[in-house]
Amino acid sequence: MTRVLSCIQPTGPVHLGNYLGALRNWVSGQHECDAFHGIVDLHALTVTDRPGVVGENTLELAATLFAVGLDPEVATVFVQSHVPEHTQLGWIMECTVSYGELSRMTQFKDKAAKREADFVSAGLFTYPALQAADILLYDADDVPVGEDQRQHIEITRDIAERFNTRFGATFVVPKMVTPKAGAKVTDLQDPTSKMSKSSGGDAGIVYLHDDPSVIMKKFKRAVTDSDSEVHFDRAHKPGVSNLLEILAACTGRSPEEVAAGYQQYGPLKNDTGEAVVEVLRPIQERHRSLLEDRAELSRLLRRGAEKARVVASSTLARAYRNIGLLPLDV
Ligand code: TYM
Repeated sequence: MTRVLSCIQPTGPVHLGNYLGALRNWVSGQHECDAFHGIVDLHALTVTDRPGVVGENTLELAATLFAVGLDPEVATVFVQSHVPEHTQLGWIMECTVSYGELSRMTQFKDKAAKREADFVSAGLFTYPALQAADILLYDADDVPVGEDQRQHIEITRDIAERFNTRFGATFVVPKMVTPKAGAKVTDLQDPTSKMSKSSGGDAGIVYLHDDPSVIMKKFKRAVTDSDSEVHFDRAHKPGVSNLLEILAACTGRSPEEVAAGYQQYGPLKNDTGEAVVEVLRPIQERHRSLLEDRAELSRLLRRGAEKARVVASSTLARAYRNIGLLPLDV
């Protein structure tokens, strides 16, 4: 059975990009695959310095993952800091990746530039090594993510191959999987940039918990183009193409098929907003009721961590053995 692993950071509310680019694929894949999904709280520490925030976001995010449809009876949902093997293998990954490779990571360059005068942690720089550990610990075949993770998955493959060459076959070399529509949802106000928790304002970001009226307003005000023709062309018509792709993702069609049904921007914006509201409505209801029982969420996460540790500890032991670290009992 194909093993799947993917994770999300608890750095703030989940948005439509996270949902269409990743979470929806996790839910649809959980019944055919052996699925592991992590809330990577230690990754969030690269940009967090206030006490308590990450823990609270983690519980909130757990409720979101179950609300979108991850079934704790089927998928293994865990918190990264509950599985200490992640940081243990993370160090080994740091010793298997080069300074030059990490320096070429565009996400590091972008995030460091955005933080400018702020504190830029070494963790922000070594982040891809910990991400490689997240993936390789689970012998994952597939990693379902959005397009923005491509460089991180490629470096993970390079690290796995390098380790296997140095120390013998140890890790599965994973492959990236993206959805047909929704792999790169862009900001509704700035359609050349991806929709992102770290972007400037909220007007172009649709959050999973936004009220229907707020969602409709955000779509009605979405930036389109100066001409008025509806067709799918990411390069020349980024705003309209983003709407077409969102509507396609919500209705299971291709963006080109969707485009054929519209002559004007107004109805396209309206229908896209309505489709998103309908997709999110049941998720919002489930999220509210899940958050009412924090003890149950915590119980589900404990079970997830136990299941994750069975796999993670055996992979870590294999890596130690193949490196030839001195065992406790010789
Ligand atoms: P994160 O937390 O930023 O995002 C979680 C998932 O959402 C996808 N995504 C998007 N997809 C389409 N359009 C967008 N605008 C958009 N924004 C975000 C991301 O591609 C991701 O799949 N580094 C990762 C977390 C991570 C991870 C891992 C992922 C840590 N370890 C191991 C996979 C496997 C991140 O920051 O994702």
